[in-house]
Amino acid sequence: MKKLIGILSSILFVSVASQAQELANMSQFEQGQQIYQANCALCHMDSGSGSPPIFLALNGNEQLADATRIITNIKQGAGAMPAFPGLDADEIAALATYIRNAWTNSFGEVTVAEATSTLDGFEEGLQIASVWDGVYTEAQAQRGQILYSGTCGSCHGRRLNGAPEDPDMGSTPPLARARFLRVWEGRSLATLFEYTRVTMPSDNPTSLTDEEFIDVIAYMLSVGGMPIGTNELEPDTQTLARILIQQSQ
Ligand code: HEC
Ligand code: HEC
Repeated sequence: MKKLIGILSSILFVSVASQAQELANMSQFEQGQQIYQANCALCHMDSGSGSPPIFLALNGNEQLADATRIITNIKQGAGAMPAFPGLDADEIAALATYIRNAWTNSFGEVTVAEATSTLDGFEEGLQIASVWDGVYTEAQAQRGQILYSGTCGSCHGRRLNGAPEDPDMGSTPPLARARFLRVWEGRSLATLFEYTRVTMPSDNPTSLTDEEFIDVIAYMLSVGGMPIGTNELEPDTQTLARILIQQSQ
């Protein structure tokens, strides 16, 4: 009898433990989904379809079998994919687990231990700044204003307020102030820069140089009321990845 109770309770224990394990995995997956929606869905879409050929699909992407590569690319960026230096090993493990198992993918979990050991030796402690820290100059914003008027204003509006639904062009989103900031809160200037330079102006992408795009971004910040500083904003994606867009100081 004692033996039977022993066996029963160990069965019970095993099933409780595996339930706890499932719950832990579930919340890691859900945490990953939230991080994905805030940081990645802009380019790779909620459905993981991306928008090829510009933004590659993550759903059904065999590259995701390589966990080390995913972890490294998220932290450091890769080509037109911006870096996310502000995400820590916990968050990257959750994110990697999510994209490897969302939609039709099933590449398995990525543990925090795996992310931690992959990220070991990466430069840490470099400061994350915000758009409120004086990251562009007045002269740069003035150059940007001229470019904006010639290249972007026809669609996004002279005051950067965007334009309502138009039968020919659809609607265009605002590029400054509260409505823009609500959408972009928490994303980095690298995400804004990479997204904009490969998709805009939507009728003729890649018609501006990187220097011109960064000047337009400086102008967008100035219209949003962000303070000027002493150094120009540079089109260097690693630096831009450390400057976050925030609604307020
Ligand atoms: C500004 C648009 C943009 C954002 C935001 C973005 N990506 Fe990407 N991503 C890209 C592009 C473009 C590529 C293709 C990169 C290349 O090879 O040039 C890519 C490639 C990838 C790859 C495949 C890399 C490989 O070849 O192994 C993964 C995985 C990925 N992204 C995950 C993410 C995750 C996770 C996030 C959110 C933290 C994210 N991306 C955010 C644009 C973006
Ligand atoms: C021909 C019209 C047109 C021109 C010109 C244009 N855009 Fe756009 N832009 C759009 C449309 C339409 C969208 C919405 C795209 C979408 O959601 O896929 C958009 C979206 C954006 C976004 C994303 C905003 C968000 O919150 O989703 C940014 C940033 C942007 N444009 C910047 C620029 C800049 C900078 C220029 C000038 C270099 C520019 N655009 C020129 C039509 C245009």
